Amino acid sequence: MTDHIVPGRFSGKTAIVTGAGAGIGRATVERLLAEGARVVATDVVPERLDALGASVETGELVTVAGDVSAQETIDAVLAAAEGRVDALANVAGIMDGFLPSEEIDDATWERVMAVNVTAIMRLTRAVLPHMRAAGSGSIVNVSSEAGLRGSAAGTAYTTSKHAVIGYTKSTAFFYTPQGIRCNAVAPGGVATSIEAPFRSAFAGERLGPIMQTNVPPIATAAQLASAITWLLSDDSLNVSGAVLPSDGGWAAI
Ligand SMILES: NC(=O)c1ccc[n+]([C@@H]2O[C@H](COP(=O)([O-])OP(=O)(O)OC[C@H]3O[C@@H](n4cnc5c(N)ncnc54)[C@H](O)[C@@H]3O)[C@@H](O)[C@H]2O)c1
Repeated sequence: MTDHIVPGRFSGKTAIVTGAGAGIGRATVERLLAEGARVVATDVVPERLDALGASVETGELVTVAGDVSAQETIDAVLAAAEGRVDALANVAGIMDGFLPSEEIDDATWERVMAVNVTAIMRLTRAVLPHMRAAGSGSIVNVSSEAGLRGSAAGTAYTTSKHAVIGYTKSTAFFYTPQGIRCNAVAPGGVATSIEAPFRSAFAGERLGPIMQTNVPPIATAAQLASAITWLLSDDSLNVSGAVLPSDGGWAAI
């Protein structure tokens, strides 16, 4: 990816990216490296981090394999950051099989909440002392079109992505006066490796016609990385507590 790179935009800065092995997270890592950041990249699939590391030609990349919903992974990521965190992109997330409220099983609910919400809380909690000490920092949480409406996923995922927006606004409220910004990006459909099978016939019947009519063309992961890195960078210094849809206009429908 070479277009629209801002050389040196993250020079001297350390960024943490979760879900870094694929899709939007990987594209965010590539963009941050191209713009001069030192990047701590974490993912639950070690082979994806190995592939990322093998493909990187410029910049300083450190990888940490582990489940981001586990505190031990958070601790390892913070250790790799070596006490400096200028930017945090909470990208890792999983889908929910599009299960409607009546069909949700406890395991799906708990896993979706753990990865999509609790992990963001834990990692943000861990980086905030470093950002407060520095008097600056930028956090971007990846929500979803499903954080804006009820017709883009199942109930667990929709709940989790609405929670990401509430978490983002509360964090922005408390910490913006201390120089720490917190924003969310709401992607529409993006071509990635995310697993999104329909596990409910009812959900397919209910969501199918709406999604076929309303969903704009699918975006690239690089387009999402563009929005995420803009919010991580000083180009958006006056923006905090915002939810930025990057969805080809879906949110306007
Ligand atoms: N692709 C879309 O259409 C779309 C739309 C809206 C929102 N999103 C959101 O964007 C984010 C990135 O999704 P993507 O489409 O790039 O998916 P992806 O599956 O291509 O990439 C996500 C990465 O996160 C990793 N991951 C999953 N669970 C993890 C865990 N517990 N710990 C650490 N890493 C973990 C995966 O291994 C994978 O490499 C997610 O939060 C997703 O909900 C995606």
